[in-house]
Amino acid sequence: MTTTSAPLSVVILAAGRGTRMKSRLPKVLQTLAGRPLLGHVLELGATLSAEQTVIVYGHGGDAVKAAFDDPALRWAEQAEQLGTGHAVLQAMDQIDPSHRVLILCGDVPLLTLETVRRLLDETPNDAVGVLTVRTPKPHGYGRIVRNDNNHVVAIVEQKDASEAQQAIDEINSGVFVVPAALLDQWLRAIEPKNAQGEYYLTDIVGLAANDDVAVHGVVGDDIEEITGINDRIQLAEAECIFQRRAVNALMREGVQVADPYRVDIRGKVTVGQDVFLDVNTVLIGDVTLGDGAKIGPNCVVIDSTIGAETELFPNCVVEQSTIGAHSLIGPFARLRPLNELADRTKVGNFVELKKSVIAEGSKVNHLTYVGDSLVGKNVNIGAGTITCNYDGANKHQTIIGDGAFIGSGVELVAPVEIGTGATIGAGSTISKSAPDHQLTLERARQRSIEGWERPVKKPK
Ligand code: UD1
Ligand code: CA
Repeated sequence: MTTTSAPLSVVILAAGRGTRMKSRLPKVLQTLAGRPLLGHVLELGATLSAEQTVIVYGHGGDAVKAAFDDPALRWAEQAEQLGTGHAVLQAMDQIDPSHRVLILCGDVPLLTLETVRRLLDETPNDAVGVLTVRTPKPHGYGRIVRNDNNHVVAIVEQKDASEAQQAIDEINSGVFVVPAALLDQWLRAIEPKNAQGEYYLTDIVGLAANDDVAVHGVVGDDIEEITGINDRIQLAEAECIFQRRAVNALMREGVQVADPYRVDIRGKVTVGQDVFLDVNTVLIGDVTLGDGAKIGPNCVVIDSTIGAETELFPNCVVEQSTIGAHSLIGPFARLRPLNELADRTKVGNFVELKKSVIAEGSKVNHLTYVGDSLVGKNVNIGAGTITCNYDGANKHQTIIGDGAFIGSGVELVAPVEIGTGATIGAGSTISKSAPDHQLTLERARQRSIEGWERPVKKPK
């Protein structure tokens, strides 16, 4: 289509109660890939650069509004669920009559941009477009009735369909594009004369035919895309479909995945070349993986950047942290939020880091807690070291200079500063700053008690 398209408004139907979810949450707040169903549908509208988005809400409206606290969104209440036509009507006084209105459902989260673009592109500005799908199992859906010109002349609901109509294998997805002024007029003319006593949105098709407005049925090629989510089983099936798409997209970008069925992506992942994801990788939020990064089995990476050629060994959790290139992390390392690790760092097993900067070449290899710390270059922190950053009321900083060596089992009582090239003897509790290039230790003198005997068990 070469004509320019009219500005677009999106109406999202989200008033459904979702009884079959058996949940305290409204249905559109159930999560798919870590995001509410409605969030997926809103993203579609945003990607289409819609000028206006109106969400029709009903049950649990306050919770839905609170979850999407965006001043650009508009809301229309449908206090009683009198049908899809009634639902769309609630939004119309917020829609510019010169726009085209794209109608989406808040519980149909797998619809793709490509399919919606096709619907918009193949429907002229002054016509109605409906997305349809052919399926061998049309039961339950509205059936598409076409005339000899192949235009859609009616949509008949399952409960209203004759036997002949029930045999039609083309179904209504519920996604429409309609000129706003006409839509408003038709919605007001709909009557609830049908088996369910509802105001059917689908009746606009017959009204359009009466007004000689063409209704284009654009046939989508994938029923998966238009499947609505009504219960937890469908939600889990949708999750599988979503994950398969997300993992396939990563593989197309050059990521090697040990098992595509055992990777979960709940956010936006940016990848370099030759990234490797082992089994049970979970990537959450904004994650960036540099060239050749390797994520070992059972790792969870949340809102973090992993540098080129860096490897996460099995069972690491990395949150809101940046790790440089050529670093080795884990197994069993936990990076709590706000760490910045430079290149060639090493963080070993059972190490916890929090809000710490670790400069190039430094190693924290075993059983250690480093929090609120600035660690210089080429520092070696021995096993079982603890930065005592919390005095019960406030957090304090530990600063460790370049080239320092912290022996095993050291407690660094913050605020404290360890000098450049300083060495701290094993087992010390350091609460005063340690000078550059000296050995500092704090230890009781070792003694042995002659004639001492171990206690023995008292006879019963
Ligand atoms: C509707 C269509 C049917 C189509 C099917 C696709 C009508 C009359 N029928 O049927 O042709 O094949 O979708 O899935 O439109 N909603 C409201 N307020 C209401 C009623 C519904 O907001 O008063 C919302 C629901 O929350 C849901 C959407 O509209 O998101 C569709 O409603 P639903 O009851 O699922 O429609 P179906 O009967 O399945
Ligand atoms: Ca219904």
